[in-house]
Amino acid sequence: PQMSDDNPFVIPEMDPTLRKQIQECNWQVVNVTTPANYFHVLRRQIHRDFRKPLIVTAPKNLLRHKECKSNLSEFDDVEGHPGFDKQGTRFKRLIKDRNDHKEVEEGINRLVLCSGKVYYELDDERKKSERSDVAICRVEQLSPFPYDLIQRELKRYPNAEIVWCQEEPMNMGAYSYISPRLYSAMKTLGRGTFEDIKYVGRAPSAATATGFLTVHVQEQSELVKKALQPELIKFP
Ligand SMILES: *[C@@H]1O[C@H](CO)[C@@H](O)[C@H](O)[C@H]1NC(C)=O
Ligand SMILES: *[C@@H]1O[C@H](CO)[C@@H](O)[C@H](O)[C@H]1NC(C)=O
Repeated sequence: PQMSDDNPFVIPEMDPTLRKQIQECNWQVVNVTTPANYFHVLRRQIHRDFRKPLIVTAPKNLLRHKECKSNLSEFDDVEGHPGFDKQGTRFKRLIKDRNDHKEVEEGINRLVLCSGKVYYELDDERKKSERSDVAICRVEQLSPFPYDLIQRELKRYPNAEIVWCQEEPMNMGAYSYISPRLYSAMKTLGRGTFEDIKYVGRAPSAATATGFLTVHVQEQSELVKKALQPELIKFP
């Protein structure tokens, strides 16, 4: 993601009909978490009247995940199908919380942003711990950064503490790409500074993972719990 050439401190013109942001960026990096979104990102790529490299970093183990599925209605736009949306089905750069939240939800204390398969673990932990004050949004397109949709979600949860959760060590994954851009999005809305982005993930490390399965599993469960209880987090 760091090879994306957009300036993290300048929010570009975001009008989706102009498609200016994507035209000005060197490539697209996506980490899709549903079959329908995978389908739509490939379809979008072919349908566009311009060409831009597309990098899909979605892991193949999601293909076997039982929660990772889409209704047929999410692939087409046949009126009458469950989930029919007048705008038609399309690639989602960001997937909103799966609970149908209103335009403004003051009771949400925590907005967890994540990307990739860790979403399913977070959602599972939220179910188990019955945290109804936590919203989880998936950033499906990392680059170019979906400022407009991120800001829409920041406005939806005016009282929420903002958490970036990833399973990778801090110096890997999307954190170093996301954080300055998330900061820019927050700053223009008066939602705080860099320190208000709570990081939940593994500590910086030279290796992508510990070599021990039991340690890995323990780390994973700790970080997922931490994302829902950032009282436990100290900056950074
Ligand atoms: C898929 O369709 C079923 C039945 O209509 C519905 O209950 C479910 O919420 C839908 N799932 C999604 C992800 O839209
Ligand atoms: C995409 O998600 C997968 C699985 O969660 C993760 O391993 C990978 O590092 C993510 N890619 C980026 C660029 O964040």
